[in-house]
Amino acid sequence: MKDGAVDFRLDGRVALITGGSRGIGLAIARAFVAAGARLVISARKPEGLEAAAEELRALGGEVTPVACHTGDIEQVRALAARTVETYGTIDVLVNNAGANPYFGAMIDAEEWAWEKTVGVNLKGYFFLAQEAARVMMKQGKGSIVNVASIGGIKPGPMMGIYSITKAGVISLTQGLAKELAAHHIRVNAIAPGLINTKFSELLVNTKEIVEPALQGIPMGRYAEADEIAPAALYLASDAASYVTGTVLVVDGGAIA
Ligand SMILES: NC(=O)c1ccc[n+]([C@@H]2O[C@H](COP(=O)([O-])OP(=O)(O)OC[C@H]3O[C@@H](n4cnc5c(N)ncnc54)[C@H](OP(=O)(O)O)[C@@H]3O)[C@@H](O)[C@H]2O)c1
Repeated sequence: MKDGAVDFRLDGRVALITGGSRGIGLAIARAFVAAGARLVISARKPEGLEAAAEELRALGGEVTPVACHTGDIEQVRALAARTVETYGTIDVLVNNAGANPYFGAMIDAEEWAWEKTVGVNLKGYFFLAQEAARVMMKQGKGSIVNVASIGGIKPGPMMGIYSITKAGVISLTQGLAKELAAHHIRVNAIAPGLINTKFSELLVNTKEIVEPALQGIPMGRYAEADEIAPAALYLASDAASYVTGTVLVVDGGAIA
């Protein structure tokens, strides 16, 4: 822009955010509402979703909550279809709903832990990105933001399967970015470090785990979910018009 103003607005755009009922997904939803987007938020539990939708509407947002288990491909397809039925398109997809049901050594992990983690974190992201990309290709533009993790760059202790899925999310991001660039669809990932949410409450609230973890973070603290939302807004918006296939690390310096 000639006047130097940078365009972080999403006015009128339709954004679909998975895991939008709390934590990082809800923080992203708040930022997107403030930037003018219309939202579909999804999660499994209808109560949490409704409460989040009410909160977002109180901020002035147009928000449609849709219950969806992202490990179930039929539900994932129905979620994308419902978004298009409601608002006519999908401009932005934030793949964010993630699970880590098993905390322990990989050599002891059982098949259920693999199936559940890969199902939600990788298969769910893959097939929802596929659905959204098909819609975006028709309109000739769009932005996909995948919430990965620094575990996908450097595997976290006792989080082996989870880290494998997040490395897969980074590969998915880079591969799709190349495939979809010609259609003016950008695909990027965010790699958060340690963030204070329900997902990480065991880590954050266990002294023996959190103290060594904080020693590995140059900024000496974990972050709040609101500190991840600006990264998602940047990648979703036209401010990132030349950014695709990248992984934006937001981790207080941990990976450095
Ligand atoms: N917190 C961290 O330290 C951290 C660090 C790096 C990356 N991340 C990533 O950030 C993302 C969000 O995590 P968070 O920390 O915000 O977690 P959170 O506060 O526990 O929120 C998770 C959200 O995802 C939904 N969800 C969970 N499993 C689902 C499923 N199978 N299908 C559909 N929705 C599901 C939850 O709602 P329901 O329970 O109602 O389904 C909730 O809305 C995840 O991908 C996670 O891997 C987190």
